[in-house]
This record gives sequence, structure tokens and C-alpha cells, in this order.
Amino acid sequence: MTRKPLIVGNWKMNKDHLESLTYLQKLYWILQDKNFDFTKVDLCILPPFTSIRSIQLLADTDNIPILYGAQDVADSLDGPYTGDISASFLKKLGCAFTLVGHSERRRYHDETVKTIIGKLRMSLEQSITPILCVGSVNADDDSAIDQQIDYALMQVSKALSQLENYSLNNLVIAYEPVSAIGTGQTIELSDIDIMTTSIRNCVEYQGNKKSADSVRILYGGSVDATNAQLILQLDSIDGLLVGGASLDYNEFARIGLLAAKGVVYDN
Ligand code: 13P
Repeated sequence: MTRKPLIVGNWKMNKDHLESLTYLQKLYWILQDKNFDFTKVDLCILPPFTSIRSIQLLADTDNIPILYGAQDVADSLDGPYTGDISASFLKKLGCAFTLVGHSERRRYHDETVKTIIGKLRMSLEQSITPILCVGSVNADDDSAIDQQIDYALMQVSKALSQLENYSLNNLVIAYEPVSAIGTGQTIELSDIDIMTTSIRNCVEYQGNKKSADSVRILYGGSVDATNAQLILQLDSIDGLLVGGASLDYNEFARIGLLAAKGVVYDN
């Protein structure tokens, strides 16, 4: 594998800054105890904004090589945007990633394609890697996989077509079918495979072969330590975006350890 696996824990609106500190410390202890090789897998947590400064201080003080990022970012750099958080602030807080266009943001905050493109641009300009989430936002979407692919590819192409001036080599795209989010039901492995392969082909078509080879494609939706290994075995997948199961540091550590198993990444 030439792409380093990436396991991301999206905590959503859970854990205050004190709980976040306990979590990070315990996660690190468990991983150290199990000789987790941080050079083989990127492990990242996405706490709420209010925890990021505490996480930064702890990670810096104790040299913890667990990455962290933000669950959202503003689509402008600064100005009169009450409540928004600039990518430049997140950069100073050491954020490696921003999550952009999560279905919960699109659904509950009416995020449009224009907003999402602004967020991708702001992140890229601050050298923060955006994780672009794609997939239907309709909770009872049981449309055939072909239609779902068309929808996700439309989201990818709309975004990429507006990012011509940016290098897409570090981009991360997460496919999250909304029917699988928080339901305990992942979708068929074959559907994950075909979707993620199609997304990579789309990146090649919209960008170039180099971007397509380097973009990391994740699956998210009811991932836990029992199903993670099967999903990670798919060649088309470079990692996972984990919601509920990432709230438990033991479970998240187990998923990280599974991702590290058998990995031959050595760049
Ligand atoms: P669950 O893992 O809880 O289904 O959430 C997935 C998700 O939305 C991660 O961003």
C-alpha cells in the first residue's frame, strides 16, 4: 500500500475539554502498551472546538503522536461571521484535518456546495488537510447503489472542479451513506468497494493520476472493532471515519490496532 492508512474518530457533540484530556491520555497509554506503530497508521481524533486547545497542550507536552482536527471550519478567513471558526485559528491550534460537508452539517445547517467549496479552500490555504464527506443526506435513502454512486460522484466533481488551483494530493474523501450513520448497519462490502473505486476514478478524471493515486478514501457509517477489519481489507479503502465507536478509547484503540495489522506502508 502506498497510501498511509488513516483512522479518524469524529466525536460529534460529545466530550467537554476535561473528558477529552482523559480520553487522549488513556488512548495513548493503551496504544503504547500494545506497541502501536504510529509511523504505519495516521490516527486522528476530531473533538469539539472547545477541546482543541486542551488537546494541543497535552499532545505537545507529552509528545503524543495522535493527530487531531476540527469537525468544521468557516468558509471565510476572517470577518463579521458570528460563531464561525477560521482555518487560520485551527492551524495555530495544530489541527491536521478539518471535516468538511459532513451529512449532519448539510442536513441540520443547510450547507450548500458553495459553502463546502469555501471550507475546502480555506483549509487547503492554511495547509490543513480537508476530509470531504460525500454520500446522500436523505436518511431513508434506499436507492440502488448506481444512483448513490451518481450522487456521490456529482458531489466530488462539483467540489473538485472549483479547486483547480490547489494540489489535491493530500485530500481525503470520506464516503458516508447516511443510512449507515448511527444505525449499527454498515452497507454491503461490495457496495463500499464499488463506491470508493468510482470515487478514485472520478478524482483521476477531474484532477490527474497523481492526485487519484494519493487521495485517501475512507468509509464511514457504523464502523466498530468487529467490522473494521473486513472493511479495511478492501483494496479501494485507505481508512475509516468512525463516529459512535470512537467515543470509547478502548474501542477506538482496537480499530487503530486492526488498521496497523499487516500494513506494509513504509514511506
Ligand atoms: P457512526 O460511526 O456513529 O455511524 O457515525 C459515522 C459518522 O457520521 C462519522 O462521521
